[in-house]
Formats: sequence, C-alpha cells, structure tokens
Amino acid sequence: MKLLISALFLSIFVFGINGKSWDSSNFPNPTKRGECIVERHAYLCDPDMLISPNGRDKVVKALNDLERNSRNQSASSFCDKQGVTAAIAAGKDFKGSQKELDNIASDLYKKWRLDNECDKSFVLLRSGTSSDAKYAVEAGKGVPMTKQEIQKLFKKILSEYYGKT
Ligand SMILES: *[C@@H]1O[C@H](CO)[C@@H](O)[C@H](O)[C@H]1NC(C)=O
Repeated sequence: MKLLISALFLSIFVFGINGKSWDSSNFPNPTKRGECIVERHAYLCDPDMLISPNGRDKVVKALNDLERNSRNQSASSFCDKQGVTAAIAAGKDFKGSQKELDNIASDLYKKWRLDNECDKSFVLLRSGTSSDAKYAVEAGKGVPMTKQEIQKLFKKILSEYYGKT
C-alpha cells in the first residue's frame, strides 16, 4: 500500500496533475471517431485544450482553406485535383528532444494514413505552451509545400491563438 501511494505521488510528480506526456502510442487519433474533437473535417487534435475556442475556429478555418486552395479542378489526374489533408497534433508535452519529435510526427503520419492514395497530406506537431513550443512536420510526397513552409505557416497561425480567447 505504501509502495502504491509512493508510486502514485511519483507519477503525479513526473506527469503533472492533469498533464500527460505524449508520444505516437498514446496521442489521440483524429481519424478515429471520438478520440479527439473534429469540426468541419479539420483534423485539429488538442487534447490538453491549449488553443482558445476562438483560436480553434481560426485554425480549423486555416486547415479548410488550405484543403480548398490546394485543389486544382482543371488538373487531369485524381491526385492533382485533390486538396491537401492536414492534421495538427498539439500537446503540452511530447516526450523527447527535437529528433524524437520528428520521429513522433513521422509515426503519427504513418499511423493516421490521412491520404493513402495521393500522399498529399501532412502532420504538424506542436509540443509545449506558447513560449517554449517545439514543432515537427512529416509530409507526403504529394504536398506542394516543403516541411519548412508548412511549419512557418502554422507556427504563425498557432502562436497567434494559443491561450487567447
Ligand atoms: C492546374 O492544373 C493545370 C492542368 O494540369 C495546370 O496547367 C495549372 O497550372 C494547375 N494550376 C495550379 C494552380 O497548380
């Protein structure tokens, strides 16, 4: 019993009272019904509720705009016509260094299979609260943007709406 109580206190100490350390095995999957909130087909998964409700609307809109603006109706092939499907994984604390975050983004990308057919999808991960956030991106071959461009775009959008109403 004593041991159990110490273990409990230790885990509270390690993970924080309501915090949880995320990795690719425990982060909720936005493509699975009920694992995270998905509005207007935008895969914005924010289980620690870091983004304000107003900010959330803006980020959802940015994801929808990106999908719409990257479609090309006059293209001939199915994949050229298709828009970009993006997912954002925002968490207070993902396990590990930058290199490990890159691996987690890559694992989530493989796991979530946002666009198996055209590879026109990416996962952007954000770890941390406003001042100390780290980013990682994994993108498919079909995405007409570089990882750096994706990160820059969403860093700007997300930084603006973290914790503000
Ligand atoms: C859309 O597809 C057409 C036909 O392939 C191409 O000529 C045009 O440049 C494309 N537009 C954009 C914005 O990529």
